[in-house]
Amino acid sequence: MAKVTFKVWRGDAQAGAFRDYETEVSEGMVVLDALHRIQAQQANDLALRWNCKAGKCGSCSAEVNGVPSLLCMTRLGSLRLDQPVTVEPLRTFPLIRDLVTDVSWNYQVKKQIKKFKPRPPDAKDGTWRMAQRDIDRVQEFRKCIECFLCQDVCHVLREHHLHQEFIGPRFLVHVAALEMHPLDTEDRLAELKKAHGIGYCNITKCCTKVCPENITITDNAIIPLKERVVDQFFDPVQKLLRIFRPS
Ligand code: SF4
Ligand code: SF4
Ligand code: FES
Repeated sequence: MAKVTFKVWRGDAQAGAFRDYETEVSEGMVVLDALHRIQAQQANDLALRWNCKAGKCGSCSAEVNGVPSLLCMTRLGSLRLDQPVTVEPLRTFPLIRDLVTDVSWNYQVKKQIKKFKPRPPDAKDGTWRMAQRDIDRVQEFRKCIECFLCQDVCHVLREHHLHQEFIGPRFLVHVAALEMHPLDTEDRLAELKKAHGIGYCNITKCCTKVCPENITITDNAIIPLKERVVDQFFDPVQKLLRIFRPS
C-alpha cells in the first residue's frame, strides 16, 4: 500500500475548486477504484458517473492529468504517483456537479442524422445477404461505446464551442458507419457538408489518440467522408457527369 494524493474537482456550474484527497492505493488499482475509496472514506457526496467498470459503458469519462480518459481503464501504474493525480470533469460539456457533466447535446445531435435506410430485402423471407469483406470497415465503427472522449478533446468543440455547427468526431464515425454500410441507400453528403460541418475538422487526429476502442476515427472515417464530399460537390468531372447523367 502507498499513499497518493488526488486533486479532484469539486463544485458545480457556478463555482468550484480542486480539493486534495490522500488515499491508500495498491497494485492493479485504476483511478475509479481510488475515487471510490475517497468517496467511501472522505467525501460521501462526491458525484461521479460509472456503470460497467470494464471500459464498455462509456459513462466514467473524465480528464486524468488533463487527458480525456475512462476512469475505470486508467491504471494507477500508468501514472506518476509521486505527484498529485488530477481528476476533473470533461471540459466540452456543461458541468452538473463534481465529475459529472451533461452530455445530452450528443443525443440531440444523433437524432439529426438520417437513419439507416436499407435496400429492399434480397430474399423472399425479408432477409439480406452481405459479404464479410463488405462490412469489415463498418465493424470498426460499431465498436464505439459513446464515451464522448473524442468529442471532449476536439478543439472545434472544446475551444471554439461550435456545437451548433459541427457534430464532432463521434458522430462523423456514426455517419461513416451508415454511409459505408453495404445495404444503406440514404445520402447524407449534403448534410455532412453543411449542417454536420465536416469542413471544420482539420485532421489533427487528437480524437483518434484518445479513443479507448482504438477506432481509427480520422483516417478510416473522417478522411473518406471528406473525400466523398469533395467528389460530390467540388470535383468538376463529377459535376459534368451529374448534369449529363440521365435521371
Ligand atoms: S481530427 Fe478533426 S474531429 Fe478529430 S479532433 Fe481533430 S479536428 Fe476534431
Ligand atoms: S469514437 Fe471512440 S472516443 Fe469517440 S465516443 Fe466512440 S469510443 Fe468514445
Ligand atoms: S464504468 Fe463503464 S466504461 Fe468505465
